[in-house]
Amino acid sequence: MGSYSNILKRRTIRRFQLKPVSFTILKKCVNAARLSPTARNTQPLQFVAVNDAKQVAAVNEAVHFGGVVKQKGRKEGEAPKAFIVILVDRGKKSEYTLTDVGIAAEAIVLTAFEADIGSCIMGAIERERIKGILGIPNSFEVPLVVALGYPKEKPVLEKETKDLFYWLDDKGTLHVPKLSLERVLHRNRF
Ligand SMILES: Cc1cc2nc3c(=O)[nH]c(=O)nc-3n(C[C@H](O)[C@H](O)[C@H](O)COP(=O)(O)O)c2cc1C
Repeated sequence: MGSYSNILKRRTIRRFQLKPVSFTILKKCVNAARLSPTARNTQPLQFVAVNDAKQVAAVNEAVHFGGVVKQKGRKEGEAPKAFIVILVDRGKKSEYTLTDVGIAAEAIVLTAFEADIGSCIMGAIERERIKGILGIPNSFEVPLVVALGYPKEKPVLEKETKDLFYWLDDKGTLHVPKLSLERVLHRNRF
């Protein structure tokens, strides 16, 4: 499947199967991130790939899944089975570093998707706690983590709504509204 088709099909996954995620696939995700573009080719990012069950459980306590999903949509055993923690080397930071982080996160997510692994990019995280759990030195910051696992849900893409909030229906299916192409695309001038 091509990248365009995968980008269209991918949705954030917050409920995962029990099946473990191998280190081999995590390595592949990080390799894709490593080779992604960075401003001036500074390559300010490093990565901690976590699939040890104890470490995963500890990191999971330090991340916060979308409110509505956390309250009603999660059952025992549905937590992520791996994390890739994105690190920024403070000594290499520039005005573009967060852009580099976003591009790396998308590379991770799409590589995982190609291997049938669902993911959730996460910014609502307890950064110092995660650094402590994983022994990350102070010369690095933790801008984002990516939670990973085989999907146990099939979110549904919806037409735009007024508030753009995603929602769970009575059956626990997640619905994700997106702005229309017409609303966001300007042809030749605004
Ligand atoms: C930078 C960034 C940070 C995010 N942080 C969180 C988070 O902390 N918790 C969470 O549950 N989802 C988080 N998400 C996932 C978004 O909620 C999700 O992408 C959005 O609802 C659209 O759904 P989609 O990815 O299926 O298109 C984050 C996404 C991005 C890009």
